[in-house]
Amino acid sequence: MKRITERSILAFICNWCARAALESAALHRMEYPFNVKFIKLSCVGRLEPIFIYRAFLEGFDGILVFACPQNDCHYVQGNIIARARIEKIHATLDLLGFDQERLKVVWLAANDIEKFQRSILEFGDLLDKLGSNPIFSNSKGGGEQVYD
Ligand code: FES
Repeated sequence: MKRITERSILAFICNWCARAALESAALHRMEYPFNVKFIKLSCVGRLEPIFIYRAFLEGFDGILVFACPQNDCHYVQGNIIARARIEKIHATLDLLGFDQERLKVVWLAANDIEKFQRSILEFGDLLDKLGSNPIFSNSKGGGEQVYD
């Protein structure tokens, strides 16, 4: 399995506030100097830990989770559930010696497109400082393959 690209970011977005911000950003032709892939979820409460671990194993350098503002989830508690899950994932990443800063949650209102763009730019800058996904940069295969 090949590593994706330099400074690749996977962004999970909920289908409500975050999707609206993404679409507004696209209408304004906002650009990012990073490879960002978006996966839409009905709500970030549907974000399973395996999605995060799999994305890191696939080679993404960082993962952003865009959620509705706290107390404003369209499914009432989805973003609260996601926050609790992400705290546990952070703890697990710490145990594994994997920098937990590579996984970040952003609370986003539908009209907050500047925050949306700024979040991606700042996260990309952070990843530049942290370097490549250590699963790949530490592998003997030159970052090309860690499992079949
Ligand atoms: Fe957006 Fe739940 S609907 S976080």
